[in-house]
Amino acid sequence: MTVSYQAIYDRYAAAGQEHVLKFYDSLSSDEQSSLLQQLDSIDPEHVNHIYKLSVSADADARAAGPGAASVEPPPPGSVNNPYDNPNKAAEWRQQGLDAIQQGKVGIILLAGGQGTRLGSSEPKGCYDIGLPSGKSLFQLQAERIAKLQKLAKGTLPWYIMTSGPTRKATEAFFEKKNYFGLDKQNVVFFNQGVLPALTNDGKIFLDTKASVAVAPDGNGGIYAALRSTSATGQGFSIISDMKKRGVQHLYAYCVDNCLARVGDPVFLGYCISQSAQCGTKVVKKLDPTESVGVVALKDKKWNVIEYSEISKELSEARDPNSNSNDLLFRAANIANHFYDISFLDRIGEESSSMAYHIARKKIAHVDLESGQTVKPEKPNGMKLELFIFDVLPYLDPSTSEHAILEVDRKAEFSPLKNAPGTGSDDPQTSRRDLLALQKKWLVDSGASMDDGTEVELSPLLSYAGEDLEAVKGRKIKQGSHNVESQEQLEQLLA
Ligand code: UTP
Repeated sequence: MTVSYQAIYDRYAAAGQEHVLKFYDSLSSDEQSSLLQQLDSIDPEHVNHIYKLSVSADADARAAGPGAASVEPPPPGSVNNPYDNPNKAAEWRQQGLDAIQQGKVGIILLAGGQGTRLGSSEPKGCYDIGLPSGKSLFQLQAERIAKLQKLAKGTLPWYIMTSGPTRKATEAFFEKKNYFGLDKQNVVFFNQGVLPALTNDGKIFLDTKASVAVAPDGNGGIYAALRSTSATGQGFSIISDMKKRGVQHLYAYCVDNCLARVGDPVFLGYCISQSAQCGTKVVKKLDPTESVGVVALKDKKWNVIEYSEISKELSEARDPNSNSNDLLFRAANIANHFYDISFLDRIGEESSSMAYHIARKKIAHVDLESGQTVKPEKPNGMKLELFIFDVLPYLDPSTSEHAILEVDRKAEFSPLKNAPGTGSDDPQTSRRDLLALQKKWLVDSGASMDDGTEVELSPLLSYAGEDLEAVKGRKIKQGSHNVESQEQLEQLLA
């Protein structure tokens, strides 16, 4: 479809953003049409609206200062965990498996981030953390889904959110790897939105003379993206696909966690059993200085309080009701959520009125006077992002709409954020944590092994430590092993 210059000019002029066409006349005809296409996909009035909303929310928060909001920990009894109550956990697990078997569960993967800190040229999910098998994060996740489908005797559609920078390479990787053995019909890609990078006074930056500087709109872009009919590129929205398949419950997780219990039936069952609209998985914050956000009530509404937002006194406070001297604010958010589809319907509408978080960044851009590219030394503008937890304030804390489950960090959380060798949240810590967990599964199942022996267990063999009865009372041969099947496991036993 051809887009008319005049129509675009008028729209941008009405929004005070017509400078994006400043170099139009000097462009080749291909460049002109690609610029018009890009501008057509952005709504400049909406950009202005988001800018105003976000700047005003940011100014209010700054003026009030940290600690101005009333902050309270989750009320007693609102955070449960599966390890204090194994019988309950078994019940929740069965309930989760039943929902999967009935075709009521879908998986959402957040994979639209640019992975700047890791510094790999490929999408993060393609990353090989150095396991004996050489498997990528995507493969580990796909195999967990495959195993869970077997355990539940059901089908799990996998909705993968990518962004402009990650879409093509992600799809190509899945094609090349033959969808890791999953049915291609059940793997659906969709793009989150992008927003233009803005000057501090809200003007859109040009990346080149023929393109606007844009960035993904944050992992909270999921809510709008699920409803968008252009996100799949195939004319249907993800939410309509979910409804068509009869999906009622969703499990969302981040691509960068090698321990992610994709589709965790325990969490699903827990949330379903309390008819939750939304669920949040947390791990216990142990050290007051840890840079994690905690789930809490902020001004009487559910929220995640970032570590920069909480006073030292509160972050160090201990829970007087805890026998183990736990922190008062300890429900550390790991960006794993449960949703009922009715909540996604409701929140999609709300998301257009949410204030975005402002990230002040150094934004390379074309100078409007000289036409030269400028690479600033200091932050010169902003990128705007929604976070996945921005919907929590929409859940009523006086009901069980929001279900919070505390899980074991060692079993479920080891994010890959930083470049190799950083020493924390890097490929080496991911590898270490995955192999340590699987060693624990083997030892808990009755195996013994020498220090230095490493065993990687394919998720196709064991999803969360089950199906390892063969190792009971046996010693594992020395070495570094990758085990894909029961037969291979048998061969390792001395
Ligand atoms: P992070 O916020 O850690 O970002 O993402 P990142 O892209 O992985 O890494 P940096 O900050 O650039 O170094 C947490 C999760 O949210 C997803 C990521 O793919 C990851 O699963 N995400 C992040 C999105 O899906 N979209 C976004 O716009 C941002």
